[in-house]
Amino acid sequence: MKAVQISQFGSVDVLSVVELEIPKPKENELLIKVKAAGINPVDCKIRRGLHHSAKKFKDKFPIGLGFEMSGQVVTAGSISKEFIPGERVCGFVGHRDNPRCYAEYVVTIDEKLIQVPEGISDEEAAALPLAGLTALQALRLAKIGAGDRVLIHAGAGGVGHLAIQLVKLMGAYVITTASPANHAFLFELGADECIDYHQQDFVKVVKQVDKVIDLVGSEVGLRSLEVVALHGKLITVPSATAEQIIKVAESKKIDAQGISMDSNKKDLTYLMGLMAQKKLKVFVSRTFPIDEVKAAQQLIESGKTKGKIALVFKWYNF
Ligand SMILES: NC(=O)c1ccc[n+]([C@@H]2O[C@H](COP(=O)([O-])OP(=O)(O)OC[C@H]3O[C@@H](n4cnc5c(N)ncnc54)[C@H](OP(=O)(O)O)[C@@H]3O)[C@@H](O)[C@H]2O)c1
Repeated sequence: MKAVQISQFGSVDVLSVVELEIPKPKENELLIKVKAAGINPVDCKIRRGLHHSAKKFKDKFPIGLGFEMSGQVVTAGSISKEFIPGERVCGFVGHRDNPRCYAEYVVTIDEKLIQVPEGISDEEAAALPLAGLTALQALRLAKIGAGDRVLIHAGAGGVGHLAIQLVKLMGAYVITTASPANHAFLFELGADECIDYHQQDFVKVVKQVDKVIDLVGSEVGLRSLEVVALHGKLITVPSATAEQIIKVAESKKIDAQGISMDSNKKDLTYLMGLMAQKKLKVFVSRTFPIDEVKAAQQLIESGKTKGKIALVFKWYNF
């Protein structure tokens, strides 16, 4: 099978598409023929050795990449209780220590998978888990309530475009930051106000909000502390700068928290249910074949991705 691997940390030049044996599932594992794999900023952070788990990965080279995929069950293992061969599934696979979804096949266990209903494409299903779970769990931590004014930074990105839709379902008011070219897209998703962060200072425009979902970190996260209302809350999602932002928040007596996303099957099932009911849409702006993995990761690293992007695998005899 074709799979992406890296044997050292570095630029996109360390990405190689290699030929590997199809993995053999253990008794409790399923073999999945992958149709699409979601691409996320964390994949590039791992590739560059900037992720907190870099030390662990270094001892395991060569390693695969990618934590989410959709596909079709090939074999379901003798003790799978939920799935049968031929079923469409998606899941959050290998999280934390064994990324491997940029590949034509993966093995995993029931607990990591959910069914993909009719009407949802392979790309949409593959792109849901990581960004969807992050958005949902960040909003839960923020304790968003009906009528809250919520500022979401980077509304046009993978996590942001899902967070906007989920906040609207919770009955709150959404203000989001994005480049002007993305404003129409974000209004369509339900945003109430869009701020062009290139031209406008969000601190002056929003004045005060009940909750901030910071998907940018660094200065943006720090400056967001200025707009959190008394008894409000800020959730800062990028882990590299979370500690610094929380420390400053503590000194100002502002409630701020980071997030470590949890691959929770119940949450993923809930999100897929919303998709099936057409209440939540994963917008996949671009797909790439595996041979163009470098271009795909370059796009994510540009910080300009609209919605999500995914690798797609073409299976002609399937
Ligand atoms: N802690 C966790 O468990 C966890 C989980 C998931 C993600 N994350 C982190 O959360 C961050 C967001 O993830 P993502 O997948 O949503 O990223 P993404 O899809 O790559 O985000 C791209 C978007 O960021 C926007 N953007 C860039 N700079 C901005 C700025 N200064 N102000 C406002 N928007 C800006 C761009 O908007 P325009 O094109 O409109 O300019 C673009 O649409 C990443 O750092 C990721 O690593 C952490």
